[in-house]
Amino acid sequence: MKQTRETLLEMKRSGTPIAMVTAYDRLSAELARAAGVEMILVGDSAANVIYGHAATPQIGMKEMLLCAETVRRCAPDVYVAADFPFGADESPRAALANARRFLEAGADSVKIELPDERAWNALALLRDAGIPVVGHLGLLPQTAASRRQCARTEEEADALRAAGRRLDALDPDAVVVEHVPDDVGASLAEICRAPVVGIGAGRRTDGQVLVFHDLLGLSEKSPPFAPRFVEGRALLAEGMAEYVRWVKSRGASLDK
Ligand code: KIV
Repeated sequence: MKQTRETLLEMKRSGTPIAMVTAYDRLSAELARAAGVEMILVGDSAANVIYGHAATPQIGMKEMLLCAETVRRCAPDVYVAADFPFGADESPRAALANARRFLEAGADSVKIELPDERAWNALALLRDAGIPVVGHLGLLPQTAASRRQCARTEEEADALRAAGRRLDALDPDAVVVEHVPDDVGASLAEICRAPVVGIGAGRRTDGQVLVFHDLLGLSEKSPPFAPRFVEGRALLAEGMAEYVRWVKSRGASLDK
């Protein structure tokens, strides 16, 4: 069954946790689909984990579109949100054109980080044009000055809840909230009608999202709030080392 906005809303209504993971290519999309995730995020974390850049603003529409097309091809029945890369909303015209390019590439919606009025205006413009969106609140890696937890003071938590109400009024398909205290993640899930999917936002959001390379232990280092379920990098490194031993020993390393 194809996952849609409606099936995600139904999961929220029935209290069924939503599993979301980032994917960028065939392997990540196929593994996510086979494991039964309901949502894939084609994240601009591709800048780091796929293209080897230091920060997410270093990726553009060209690379993101290739990832979105590939993920849709390899996970045809999963809900796919594609991340607006930094600058994709530099003008209202650019925001609309870029969102449409993502939908043509097969995405169900576009995800936008919401650091300022320009981003909020872009999101409102997309909704006016009938384009489905996912809003990203809390820690916003494209513009954050530090990786510290957000909404730690009462004042900051109130501001985040107000942003949640503002976002809810724009009727997004989902909300991503990153690196906030558990009770703030929980209150956001109560405020929003759409599913609130957390990363480092506690256990009481409507679902969880992690970066593919973090949860499989493929990243050299993961953020403190991102659990690793297998040490994939060490396993793969051992396989590679074994291959080189096999070549250098002219095949003897595998002889019994
Ligand atoms: O790009 C990304 O991977 C993200 C997640 C951290 C939510 O935005």
